[in-house]
Amino acid sequence: MLDLFADQAPWSEPLAPGAVILRRFARAHSTALLAAIEQVAAVSPFRHMVTPGGYTMSVAMTNCGPLGWSTDRHGYCYAAVDPQSGKPWPAMPDCFRQLAQEAATGAGYPTFNPDACLINRYQPGAKLSLHQDKDEARLDAPIVSVSLGLPAVFQFGGLNRSDPLQRVLLEHGDVVVWGGESRLFYHAILPLKEGSHPQVGPWRYNLTFRRAAE
Ligand code: SIN
Ligand code: FE2
Repeated sequence: MLDLFADQAPWSEPLAPGAVILRRFARAHSTALLAAIEQVAAVSPFRHMVTPGGYTMSVAMTNCGPLGWSTDRHGYCYAAVDPQSGKPWPAMPDCFRQLAQEAATGAGYPTFNPDACLINRYQPGAKLSLHQDKDEARLDAPIVSVSLGLPAVFQFGGLNRSDPLQRVLLEHGDVVVWGGESRLFYHAILPLKEGSHPQVGPWRYNLTFRRAAE
């Protein structure tokens, strides 16, 4: 299908206090970002982690950067070593770091210095249940979340699990940044719909940049 808006300049949409959607912000860099994802996954492959409750996650995950997020039967943690390969997580590609810092700056967080990038891979049907990102030592740093490939419905709530949820469709190249007042807001991804993205195929990738350590 011809994409009439492929060349449209990025624009931003406020989401909540401290949170903004930078629409199409990563689109111009998608080829480099996808190639870098492949390079990371060649060293630390995508895997379906198991939560402390014994649930195998439908989203496949890997990491890059000094610290990587994992979960297993014992709990959630950030660590320098990939528990599967026994080696350090792959370095954070320059194009990742640059994009994350530019997006954070565009959202009002000019000093963001991420030390962790979680890479999520969703196939149709995969979802992420409602949760807070709260395993990080530095809650003054924002979360920068980059979407590539198939669209997904992102739910964004408040500080309490029962707070009303906004629903936003995240599409290829969209970046969500949340920090400040909304840093600990609950969020989720609804089950991915079937489809095939012209550049990415039957997948959605999400890069989540965080400052995990002091
Ligand atoms: C996350 O909450 O860690 C990822 C959200 C997303 O996939 O957009
Ligand atoms: Fe999250």
